[in-house]
Amino acid sequence: MVSLRFLLCFLFVSNVYATIVSHDGRAITIDGHRRVLLSGSIHYPRSTPEMWPDLIKKSKEGGLDAIETYVFWNAHEPTRRQYDFSGKLDLIRFLKTIQDEGLYGVLRIGPYACAEWNYGGFPVWLHNMPGMVFRTTNKAFMDEMQNFTTMIVDMVKKENLFASQGGPIILAQIENEYGNVMGPYGESGKAYIKWCANMAQSLDVGVPWIMCQQNDAPQPMLNTCNGFYCDNFVPNNPNTPKMWTENWTGWFKQWGGKNPHRTTEDVAFSVARFFQRGGTFNNYYMYHGGTNFDRTAGGPYITTSYDYDAPLDEYGNLNQPKYGHLKQLHDVLHSMERTLTYGNISTIDFGNSASATIYKTEEGSSCFFGNGNEKSDATISFQGESYVVPAWSVTILPDCKNEAYNTAKITTQTSMMVKKPNEAEDTPSTLKWSWRPENMDNFLLKGKGESTQTQLFDQKVVTNDQSDYLWYMTTVKFKKRDPFLGKNMSLRVNSTAHVLHAFVNGKHIGSQHAENDKFNYVFEKDVKFKSGRNVIALLSITVGLANYGAFFESKPAGITGPIFITGRNGDETIVKDLSAHKWSYKTGLIGFESQLFRTESMSKWSVESVPFNRTMTWYKTTFKSPLGNDPVVVDLMGLGKGTAWVLQSNMLRYHVPRSFLNAEGDNTLVLFEEMGGNPSLVSFQTTRVGSVCANVYEKNIIELSCDRKSISAIKFASFGNPDGNCGSFVKGTCESSNNTVDILTQECVGKEKCSIDVSTEKFGAPDCTGAARRLAVEAIC
Ligand code: GAL
Repeated sequence: MVSLRFLLCFLFVSNVYATIVSHDGRAITIDGHRRVLLSGSIHYPRSTPEMWPDLIKKSKEGGLDAIETYVFWNAHEPTRRQYDFSGKLDLIRFLKTIQDEGLYGVLRIGPYACAEWNYGGFPVWLHNMPGMVFRTTNKAFMDEMQNFTTMIVDMVKKENLFASQGGPIILAQIENEYGNVMGPYGESGKAYIKWCANMAQSLDVGVPWIMCQQNDAPQPMLNTCNGFYCDNFVPNNPNTPKMWTENWTGWFKQWGGKNPHRTTEDVAFSVARFFQRGGTFNNYYMYHGGTNFDRTAGGPYITTSYDYDAPLDEYGNLNQPKYGHLKQLHDVLHSMERTLTYGNISTIDFGNSASATIYKTEEGSSCFFGNGNEKSDATISFQGESYVVPAWSVTILPDCKNEAYNTAKITTQTSMMVKKPNEAEDTPSTLKWSWRPENMDNFLLKGKGESTQTQLFDQKVVTNDQSDYLWYMTTVKFKKRDPFLGKNMSLRVNSTAHVLHAFVNGKHIGSQHAENDKFNYVFEKDVKFKSGRNVIALLSITVGLANYGAFFESKPAGITGPIFITGRNGDETIVKDLSAHKWSYKTGLIGFESQLFRTESMSKWSVESVPFNRTMTWYKTTFKSPLGNDPVVVDLMGLGKGTAWVLQSNMLRYHVPRSFLNAEGDNTLVLFEEMGGNPSLVSFQTTRVGSVCANVYEKNIIELSCDRKSISAIKFASFGNPDGNCGSFVKGTCESSNNTVDILTQECVGKEKCSIDVSTEKFGAPDCTGAARRLAVEAIC
């Protein structure tokens, strides 16, 4: 008798559920296959749950394999041991949306995020714990970090979301770019990183842990690279694959700064170059940047928009040509997955920064021809053929013969977005406003807050960051004959308030804000003090707490002093130091406390003589939700600085996700204006593709698409050597005699998209004296 033990079905069952993620020096391996992985960052609280399925679907269509996100500690644990995972903070729902779309997830728990997020993601209560120092071997810090990290891991495990449990998460991250700032932490910093690694490892997530920008990352942590280019990166262990956790698709924006832009060609170049040089995992930071709702923007002075010039714009629209050009690149790289991850690598150096890299397996080879020279094109001779590789570009030939892609040759359309007035509403001037002043009497005239101290405190310590606003108030008494009471008196405040408004005896004497990245300054104004009691009330405002740098948690905010009154009498100057006076503190503003932004608020609003250019003023109006489903924008034209609420959601500026709006009936917009503004110019709009353009060489196929709207007209088309850019194309010196506009009108107008073969068969053969022929077209959506 022979018996056979059978265990196959058991093995089979467990294989169905668990995905095994491992790695070797070449690549991340998933269920036994080395992978070329393309990933993109989408931070769940920077959009709404209603937007997630569409964003993730578009990411998948854009050729991504994985979505990456940080976890935002201060959003989830705003008060110690009180957690919030609701709405935009529903991390589990976000991860499940990724899973539903069949993508992988990369979970960067940190819990330090940076990310231009308020305080880098740390809760301010953490800073206010006794003896606390962040990101070093400080027991109080490590206990709290471990508590939060463990809680997140447990939550994710409970839902079986790690790949080891059959879920989507293939990688987890601990800390973030600590290597960039660890110098000042000395030996403690080194010990801290070891502790981070052990702590993470002990959580037993069943997938590899990564540490970015950490050259001394202890095994088995995978050290990864962040930057605009990572092709030169070499991991610290031969067993670690070459991975890029942040390829910056653009950049963040600061108030008053320019809109950041990184060219599509350059992003594509950096990715192709990375894979040419043995890269295996590339994550776009950001793939969708989104919006900093509420008070989540870091800083100081990070804007509410976190668009980032990412492939999906703030509203979730395709940012073309970036999205499409990268999608083509992803498709080509995926088609070469096997050769790239198993092939033998050889390189040929042609000099002048030109090189070829050949990946060869028994089944075939794939090639990259790179030209790192920024100015001159390279001509590469390879296996009897000659190839022109434009300056600063990479050509990819999946079969080492035919060029399938070049990073500098864009064949994707450019989309020009337009903003349309709210069609459900008449003109903006029909928004009917009511108003009320911020009630400041107790502070301005009485100097009365909720606590007193004979010291000037850092704003964070007093407010716990529950509000941007903190009043610092004191009273100063002068006798009639006080030698101080002269004509030439002034108030001098050494300030680290991002914005400061100063009042004496109820009168606004001036305002100042930090400028040019200098966050400490001196505010000085002449003041007439009276004999008897004088009230000095200083309103300090934060505009996002610092999120980066060694010991950033201790960067001062608020009015840390000293504060003086000076009196000049002829040559004599008398100085009175108020710093150790009795200071009365009040966190927040009355209008916020009485929740004037709530629709059901019973407070009185006046429709009479709505003021313009009045500081500290509340405004309210109602509006109808714009028709259709294009993303909604509120244009706060005419306003200064403040906060806006739509249906109680504090959204500050710009994108108003439709899930914030009542589709039927009235919506309420409440504004708090600090500096003085004119609300009559405020309007609601929708944003959509207005026109699309392409400028493509012959022998390419170009697709024009108005993103679910039909193409209504061809505004410009020329096949030859046209000049100019989208919106300003002009005919060149040669042009086909066929009517290009007519041909394109027939093929495209009335359709949502059309595909055009740019060829002489279709458009005729203009004689452009040897120069390559191009089709330039601008279509109106
Ligand atoms: C990195 C950081 C990210 C983000 C980025 C700039 O250094 O890891 O969180 O801050 O810079 O957008």
